Amino acid sequence: MTDQNLTLDTHALDSTTVEALQQAIAHRRSLGVARLKPDAVNRYLIEQMLEAANWAPSHGETEPWRFTVFTGDSRIALGEAFAEAYRQDTGEGFQEATFEAQKGRALMSPVWISIGMQPAVKADGSLRMDLEDERVAVGCAVQNLHLVASAQGLAGMWLSKNVFIHPHIAEFVGLTAPAQLMGFFIVGWPNIPWPAGERGPLSEKVRWAE
Ligand SMILES: Cc1cc2nc3c(=O)[nH]c(=O)nc-3n(C[C@H](O)[C@H](O)[C@H](O)COP(=O)(O)O)c2cc1C
Repeated sequence: MTDQNLTLDTHALDSTTVEALQQAIAHRRSLGVARLKPDAVNRYLIEQMLEAANWAPSHGETEPWRFTVFTGDSRIALGEAFAEAYRQDTGEGFQEATFEAQKGRALMSPVWISIGMQPAVKADGSLRMDLEDERVAVGCAVQNLHLVASAQGLAGMWLSKNVFIHPHIAEFVGLTAPAQLMGFFIVGWPNIPWPAGERGPLSEKVRWAE
């Protein structure tokens, strides 16, 4: 074995880059649909986000994240699916105006990315890993995606309630049990100055056992 083979390559980044990474993490922000410009987002920028998502860790290397990207006119069918999900959930309380508003909702962000979790299964159909671990891995993937979005100046937000996790929408994006729909990630250019974030003191969350 030569000396060259013994050289350890730690892949450590230089301190300036580490600082930039810390900054990118702290500057990542969630911005809702009202804070997005209607302008389209270049496909390359979305691909960069998805590439980052694909480097997330997963227990057992299951890589359970699944995404469907809706842009342009594909959002019309998505809006119709949101409206149908609303209709299925409301019964007596159904309101035509809300139904119509659901249709328009998908057009309020130029990009919608469905967040799916597809767990790995064994030959006998049982799960290879805990569903919680699979969901956490998807969370890591979304964080990666969001970090790259923010670093590119793009606003985004994870939406995880109501129609965004509805079984009808899960079916619409091709997720069938045991796969789960974990919501949607919206992406667009911000229409407001980039807001500052806020966090409680780290000292309340960390205990050093020395
Ligand atoms: C798993 C997850 C689900 C979320 N779901 C929603 C949601 O349904 N609606 C919403 O307004 N924000 C949602 N958010 C965004 C949070 O509200 C946001 O991250 C939080 O306010 C902190 O702001 P920041 O991301 O700008 O630091 C979600 C975030 C995470 C991690």
